Amino acid sequence: MKIVHAASEFFPYVKTGGLADAVASLCGVLADNGHEVSVFLPGYRAALEHKDAAKAERTARLKIEMGDQFLSGDVRMFSPRKNLKVHLVCREEFFDRRNPYGNGERDYEDNADRFIFFCKGVVEALRLSDLQADVVHAHDWQAALLPMLLRDAERRYDVTLAVKTVFTIHNIAYQGLFPRTVFARTNLPEDLNNMDGLEYYEQINLLKGGILFADRVTTVSPRYAQEIQTPEFGNGLDGVVQTREHDIMGLLNGVDLSVWNPATDALLPARYSAANLAGKQLCRAELLKRCNFAPGYKGPIFGMVCRFAEQKGLDLLLANQDFFMLGDCRLVVLGSGEKRYEEEIQQLVSQAPEKISLSARLDEAMSHLIEAGSDFFIMPSLFEPCGLNQMYSQIYGTVPIVSRVGGLIDTVTDADEQPASGTGLMGAPTKEGLRNALERARQLFADPARMSAVQKRGMGKDFSWKTAAAGYEELYRESI
Ligand code: ADP
Ligand code: GLC
Repeated sequence: MKIVHAASEFFPYVKTGGLADAVASLCGVLADNGHEVSVFLPGYRAALEHKDAAKAERTARLKIEMGDQFLSGDVRMFSPRKNLKVHLVCREEFFDRRNPYGNGERDYEDNADRFIFFCKGVVEALRLSDLQADVVHAHDWQAALLPMLLRDAERRYDVTLAVKTVFTIHNIAYQGLFPRTVFARTNLPEDLNNMDGLEYYEQINLLKGGILFADRVTTVSPRYAQEIQTPEFGNGLDGVVQTREHDIMGLLNGVDLSVWNPATDALLPARYSAANLAGKQLCRAELLKRCNFAPGYKGPIFGMVCRFAEQKGLDLLLANQDFFMLGDCRLVVLGSGEKRYEEEIQQLVSQAPEKISLSARLDEAMSHLIEAGSDFFIMPSLFEPCGLNQMYSQIYGTVPIVSRVGGLIDTVTDADEQPASGTGLMGAPTKEGLRNALERARQLFADPARMSAVQKRGMGKDFSWKTAAAGYEELYRESI
């Protein structure tokens, strides 16, 4: 099949979270399976500076209608592997910036223009290339206008650009909400500027457009597909999602085992497998060293790697700070995002630098070392569409401590509740829920035979992309 993806992130060219990993590994597997895959990304500075992009060729010049203006840009293409073409939709004014979405605390003022331009750039590139895609698959709010714009362009130019459109919700909490005046820059027919279209409580909601107008909608775990149809997890769009209840399905993300595999991971000081965990001890020693902790420490190490956002349950971690401050343990946190979390965790570090460490930055190598060198990985998310780190942890023999939400429910089972098959510890997304799981982690650690059984079960789980990719292929093939 000819499959086109459009997303705002793609590992290793631009990444702020799991979206980058998920889109890149899905495209990689589809390419390996023999499909002709094209992925469109905004031409961010980081992507253009990546060594793979050095060979990029300009494949189209763009003149994009945005309201009553025309904005120029171009598309540059390179092919990092067989059957995969990466197309960067470029316009310096919009994308030649250090961060994709904003400067630290605030989003860029022109985000609506940036991502409308991106989606229109994809449509125009498809029109100019005459690719005739079997599927155009858009991800998250930044690409959510694509299904609407594509069908609109087909009407305007009387062409077929794609047989089918698919839209994947990676996180319904980020919707691309903008003032209503933004609608004019889409140049879509005025009858889409109402509550059956993009309008949402007197604003414009781009994510809503993707949900309503794609032929099929997916989420990144089966549980999340159900959750977002409820007010508790729908972030105000539960009613909109319900209108698509027959066209929505949850396909669980997988793990790219060429990047996340302790037996081959080049970012680690030593490699290991379930059959021989000696390398994990070396990773532990290196982690203790990197955090300036005493080298011979024998107690439990708790790791955490995440975007610093409310979603990730950092408030629950902070509410349980006495567990870490008073008990025998080490806590290693890596993350970046909201400054308030960084400051509060830094406070803990200054009170107990011998047992708590914070790396407030994006650091791919450190994220691998934490996954490998820790005993437990903490992920007390308030909601979690899929979550990747709990899967990485299991593969790395690090027991995940997660809350019972979304994709975490679909990928972890509790070792106390299911002694023969459990691979993690689970609790409600509350202060007490996390506390209970942390206490049980300490008990598990104190019982080496049981701990080792739980670790090895996790390492034996199959989180490869095979199943998910087959699910997408079936969805692509199904007639509308
Ligand atoms: P989300 O997409 O909501 O952020 P996921 O669990 O799906 O959550 O994916 C997060 C990804 O981002 C993981 O690959 C994780 O290792 C990575 N990550 C998050 N914060 C950092 C950081 N500070 N440095 C390196 N990698 C990070
Ligand atoms: C989002 C979600 C996360 C998911 C990732 C990849 O960022 O927050 O749960 O794993 O997308 O699909």
